Amino acid sequence: MYLVFFLHILLDRFLVVHTCPSFCTCSNGTSGTAELRWVQCGDPRISTVPANVPADTVRLRLEKTGVTRVPRAAFFNLSELLFLWLAYNAIAWIHPSSFVNLRALRELRLDGNGLTAFPWEGLRDTPRLRTLGLHNNRLASLPAHAALFLLNVTYLDLSSNRLTALSAELLDLWFPIPGREERSVPRRILGLHDNPWWCDCRLSLMVSLSTSPASPVVLTDRTLTCKGSPTGTRAPFPRCARPSVRPSATRVVSLRGSNVILRCHATGYPTPTLTWVKTSKRADCCGRDVPGGGEEVPRNLESSLQGSPRVGVRWSLISLDDLASKDAGEYRCRARNMAGISEAPVKLTVVGVTRISGRPPKKSQRTPLKKPKRTRMTLSLAPPPYQKKLSIYN
Ligand SMILES: *[C@@H]1O[C@H](CO)[C@@H](O)[C@H](O)[C@H]1NC(C)=O
Ligand SMILES: *[C@@H]1O[C@H](CO)[C@@H](O)[C@H](O)[C@H]1NC(C)=O
Ligand SMILES: *[C@@H]1O[C@H](CO)[C@@H](O)[C@H](O)[C@H]1NC(C)=O
Repeated sequence: MYLVFFLHILLDRFLVVHTCPSFCTCSNGTSGTAELRWVQCGDPRISTVPANVPADTVRLRLEKTGVTRVPRAAFFNLSELLFLWLAYNAIAWIHPSSFVNLRALRELRLDGNGLTAFPWEGLRDTPRLRTLGLHNNRLASLPAHAALFLLNVTYLDLSSNRLTALSAELLDLWFPIPGREERSVPRRILGLHDNPWWCDCRLSLMVSLSTSPASPVVLTDRTLTCKGSPTGTRAPFPRCARPSVRPSATRVVSLRGSNVILRCHATGYPTPTLTWVKTSKRADCCGRDVPGGGEEVPRNLESSLQGSPRVGVRWSLISLDDLASKDAGEYRCRARNMAGISEAPVKLTVVGVTRISGRPPKKSQRTPLKKPKRTRMTLSLAPPPYQKKLSIYN
């Protein structure tokens, strides 16, 4: 009985130590005193990701093989893996769930393959990833959602691909607007050169931000060549201006039952887009919750009117009809362009009982509001020239 047991253990031990995928070498590396399993496969006869890699492997190099695809859960058994080097194969496709269970992975290198797309969402499975090498592939786009999965990546090499544009999301991730980010921003190293960039003002902003001494980003090579630009290939980069936003009034006091229009004006280049968000249910000094407002904040306000009288200028207004107590609170007008985001608050206070024909006030609305004056209301305005045409009252 015991003999069988020991034999079993011995056999297990034997197998663990000595199984190694065909055409691969398995060896022990050292890190300090610890013995670490390294597996290296570099034979062109290998055409699929080997399945029987020892489970205690910390470094797997699969290089210069004939592998063309990385299938789903290809490294599922390798939860101790720290380094996965898949460079210089013929990989053209990676399943979005290829990296499932690689919880410890620090470094993923896919340089020198034939990737035309990378499954960014697959990085969800590698929360400890710091280094991602995609140098020398055929990536043609860097989608906005990639920014969600690159939060912890501090070394990203995208050089020698076919990239033409950077998204605003990545610019915001790499160069957060000072004061907006609570967490400390890690220093990152980015390789972006040798791509056919469309040199718009966002790219020029990125290059100029990266040259400042306090830049959170270091480019491995600052010479980004332009394949095209809005002003012609040879012209200098156009300049972006981060948006600046001004509401027509920062404080509005209005009667219950009336209609009010909140207006906001922004400048920037390229012309910013404007959105409205309700950020708080409190408009008064004392932090009292406005009764009757069971709504969730922040809440995006969908229906706004906008216009752009000329390049670089945009206005927007939202109309709140038949004001009720629940409409009181803080509204923010948010302007965004490829160079950044800026916003400004408007505080709306709702006072008084309903107008002449009004419905009887609801119970919840009756409580602690001050007794209103019927015909007068206070209205604090922003300084001129934004005093005119502020809020429209019925
Ligand atoms: C490699 O490491 C294993 C433990 O991980 C050990 O049992 C084995 O003897 C080592 N082999 C060599 C050649 O050092
Ligand atoms: C993981 O290990 C199991 C059992 O040892 C094996 O059947 C399976 O093929 C392995 N999967 C991979 C992707 O290596
Ligand atoms: C970033 O790291 C934190 C802490 O290790 C982890 O909780 C989070 O999931 C990681 N995020 C991503 C997108 O990998």
